[in-house]
Parts: sequence; structure tokens; C-alpha cells
Amino acid sequence: MSSLFLDTLSGRQSEKRPIWLMRQAGRYLAEYRAVRASEPDFISFCLNPEKAVEVTLQPINRFGFDAAIIFSDILMVPWALDRNVRFVTGEGPKLDPMETGGEITEAMIAGMAPRLTPVATAISNCRAALAADKALIGFAGAPWTIITYLLEGGSSRDFATARRWMWENDVRFDRLLDLVSQATADFLALQAEAGADALMLFDSWASAVPSHLRKKVVIDPVNRITGILRDRGIETPLIGFPKGIGEGLIEYCNETELQGVGIDHGVDMRWAAATLPSHLTLQGNLDPLSLIAGGDAMARAIDEILDATSGRPHIFNLGHGITPETPIEHVHDLLARARGQVS
Ligand code: CP3
Repeated sequence: MSSLFLDTLSGRQSEKRPIWLMRQAGRYLAEYRAVRASEPDFISFCLNPEKAVEVTLQPINRFGFDAAIIFSDILMVPWALDRNVRFVTGEGPKLDPMETGGEITEAMIAGMAPRLTPVATAISNCRAALAADKALIGFAGAPWTIITYLLEGGSSRDFATARRWMWENDVRFDRLLDLVSQATADFLALQAEAGADALMLFDSWASAVPSHLRKKVVIDPVNRITGILRDRGIETPLIGFPKGIGEGLIEYCNETELQGVGIDHGVDMRWAAATLPSHLTLQGNLDPLSLIAGGDAMARAIDEILDATSGRPHIFNLGHGITPETPIEHVHDLLARARGQVS
């Protein structure tokens, strides 16, 4: 059986839009909160294949989305590299901040795979449990976004520590970018080999990179990663999501070999549809906060995205992750509208 999601990602346009939502397995679902409560440590939760499969399937069972995204986290790579990653309730992720860059070595990267095996197990079990017409997405953080967590030691408002480190440590920064790209490619390869049908690279904090460094810090690592994957014979389609880079999307799309690109809600979808290379499938870009209000305002925003992308392959999604406050009813409304079941 074919999958609407994979057909669309391969460049085929159809009347129906495939839909999934970033962070679709998460705290807005009561059934997620129940499983989460049984595993207070977030990393142990991600490393428990049975629970990871259960919560990955929850949004598919409830809403019938066209794709599942494996329940895991971009910070599993820093965790596997011994950066003491933990999630503190109310404060978000915490890591031991790196100082010299020498904290990460090639030997540590080579040793990651056994620690990440539970993610591979979850993917193969999840693929076996999913219907044939539902795709399974694996993912990783893009090198720059991972580097911000490594250097900042957690989330940040302006990424001042990471940016300053980048300016002050030329050679060490290049080495770090290369090592993290290698680790990212390894994590994606492990997921593809376990059965992920598509891969997504989240560059959630790409907007913090000064524009003239985008090529080196945001774009070149994508090519390094796809090069490693292709050298290993992995042909799994890849979606890049360089959040907040605006006009930088042109170079990002033209100078990489991605199959899809995630568009955030700050970008005009009409501009994206008219400007970005036509071989790429667009994904996005409803403001996740519109789902809190719901109603007419959300309906108009959905229609605008459908209309703007009517001339090319498009996967409906949000411009960033769904928030915990989202009412379930509004997700049902979004699905019905984006699938053309209401007018
Ligand atoms: O449903 C899905 O989309 C799949 C699972 C997924 C999670 N994280 C689960 C998760 C995905 C794709 C991610 C990616 C991720 N993780 C990103 C990139 C995407 C983005 O939103 O920009 C980033 C930056 C992270 C790092 C991270 N993980 C943060 C900042 C947080 C929030 C911490 C907090 O306390 O609010 C997490 C935790 C996390 N990852 C949750 C989920 C469902 C919530 C934690 C919980 O259940 O307590």
C-alpha cells in the first residue's frame, strides 16, 4: 500500500494533503501525560521502547495523522556523548556546558550506537505496529542546534554563549561542527536502518546564526550529513527544518539535496511556494498558537496555507511544535478542514 505522506515527499502532488504535527506525541494529550507520569525521568522514558512506541502511536490512533514521528528527543545525541543531559521539571533540559570542545571525541561518537539501540528497537517495533499507509519519521537535531545546547548547557533566549564561543574559537568551532555532524549522521543512519521511512533534521535555532555564516554553520553540515548517509547506501528521504532563517531558505534549498523543507510560521507560504525550488516538497506552516484559539481565525489561516501551496507538493503541518495548552477539539477541527471535510 502506498503512503500519501511518502508519495508527497517524493514530489507527487495530490488533491489530498498529508498531515502530521510537530510534537504530536506530547503533553496536550491526556493519554501521553498518563504514560509520562509512569516514567518521571525523561531520558529513561525515551529509552523505554515499549513506552516510546505506545506514545508514538497515540496521536495516530486518536487523529489518524498520515505520519508518526518516533518518540525520542534531539538531546539523545548529547546524552549518548556523556554530556549529563537531564530534564528538570519547569526548567527544561540541562547539560554540563562544554568549555573547550575537546570534551567530545571521535571515540565517543563511535561508542554512541549501543547506547541508542533502544531508539532503533522502538522504530522497528513501531514500524511493525503501524498500518502500511502510515509513514514513520525518524529525526535528529541539526548540528548548530545541538551545539547551542552543548555550549549553553540548556535552553537559551539569545544563544549568547554559543555565538560568542563560535566567534572566539574558529578552529575549535569547525572541529566541533564536524564532529557533531558525524554524530548526527550516525543517529539518523541508525534510525533509517531500523525502519524509519523518512528523516527530519530540526535546526530549531538556525535563526541565531549570523546570515553570512549560514552557509558554513547551517547549510554545509546538511551536505556533510546527506553525504555520509548516501555513502552508506541510505536513500531515505530527508526533510530539513531551518527555523527562522527567512530569505536564507533560498540558499538552504538550492545548495542541499533535501526532499522536503519545513517552513516556519514567520515565512509567507505564498513567497515560499513561488520562490523555493519546485522539486522540493514544502511542509508547514500554521502557527501552533492558532490552535489554542481555534474557530474562524484558525480556519482562515488553514485555508490560506492550502491555497498558497495549491500548485505544488505540500505536507500540512505547524510552523513549530504543538503546545501543551492545545484543546483536542481544535486538532480535530484542523484535520477536518485541512482534509477538505468542511467548507
Ligand atoms: O511528537 C514528536 O514530535 C516527537 C517527539 C519529539 C520530542 N522532542 C519529544 C519531547 C521531537 C521531534 C522533539 C524534538 C526536539 N526536542 C526539539 C526540536 C523541535 C523543536 O521543538 O524545535 C528540541 C529543541 C528539543 C529539546 C527539548 N526537549 C526541549 C526544549 C524540551 C522541553 C522541555 C520542557 O520541560 O518543556 C524537550 C522535552 C520534550 N521532548 C517533550 C516532548 C514531548 C516534553 C517533555 C515532557 O513530556 O515532560
